[in-house]
Amino acid sequence: MPDLEHTAVEVPQTKGRFITRFTRGQRYLHACLFSTFLGLAATGLPLRFSESVWARHFASAVGGFGSILFFHKFCAILLSLAFLIHLKDLFTRVFIHREKGIFWGANSMVANWKDAKDLYGHMRWFVGLGPRPNFDRYAYWEKFDYWAVFWGMIVIGFSGYAMWFAPFFARFLPGWALNAALVIHSEEGLLAILFIFSIHFVNTHLRPDSFPMDMVVFTGVESEEELKHKHPLEYERLVRQGKLEAKVGEAPQPLQVKLSKIVGFTAVFIGLLLLVLTLSAYFF
Ligand code: HEM
Repeated sequence: MPDLEHTAVEVPQTKGRFITRFTRGQRYLHACLFSTFLGLAATGLPLRFSESVWARHFASAVGGFGSILFFHKFCAILLSLAFLIHLKDLFTRVFIHREKGIFWGANSMVANWKDAKDLYGHMRWFVGLGPRPNFDRYAYWEKFDYWAVFWGMIVIGFSGYAMWFAPFFARFLPGWALNAALVIHSEEGLLAILFIFSIHFVNTHLRPDSFPMDMVVFTGVESEEELKHKHPLEYERLVRQGKLEAKVGEAPQPLQVKLSKIVGFTAVFIGLLLLVLTLSAYFF
């Protein structure tokens, strides 16, 4: 019997009971987030590296840089809508439903002292100096990924709209601020692309626990063994409070798993391709 708590083992993603982790709405929002992000990256990069050979080939294949900018703005509107829906959800949960524990506690995305201890403990575990920390509903790197996107949306979004509607923003902002918007948008966009296509991909899909693809954000459920292994404190709490049964969901249908894999692997492939193109534009 493997020691599930302290080693990196492959956990079954298709057998036994399945526990709900994400609602249908959250999964749709994530689908909108990653597809529009891929679109924004695929159109932002050729704008940024318009001198490179691949960018010019891409532009001539899709009707010029004007078309690329058009698709960039189209994806930007969809992503902004997804972000606004997320903000509305948060607002409703906090102010209408008066839900407790959004800003603090075991189910919160806000970092706390335990996350700092987990980070330290995890580094020690990586080099064999201690046991694997027991994570709760969200591990420290999942919170980091969430806030990186949240913060990125605000900075990239504001600077993007400032450029898009420059004559309007010029009524309130000095000229240098609009120049700064281009630099901020460009650098923050690049940072987001590098972060998502390297660190986020490794964190979610390429670590031994999830390799080659973590399906939970597509199917919404994970096997009980997976939950026990990846988020043992959440599992223990749900069992202790008698809330686990209410979260038992249906096993994902084979077709759903197949489609999720196709979509997931395609997204990872496009992301890695864009990462290689970005690095090649920088270094060659
Ligand atoms: C969410 C709202 C967004 C809006 C409104 C927006 C808008 C724009 C606009 C108007 C431009 C053209 C600037 C110019 O005229 O030269 C642009 C360029 C660019 N965008 Fe976005 N964008 C958004 C999101 C993103 C995201 C999420 C990324 C990263 C994945 C991104 C990456 C880029 C890059 C790399 C450029 C090229 C900048 C340069 O020429 O150096 N954008 N964006």
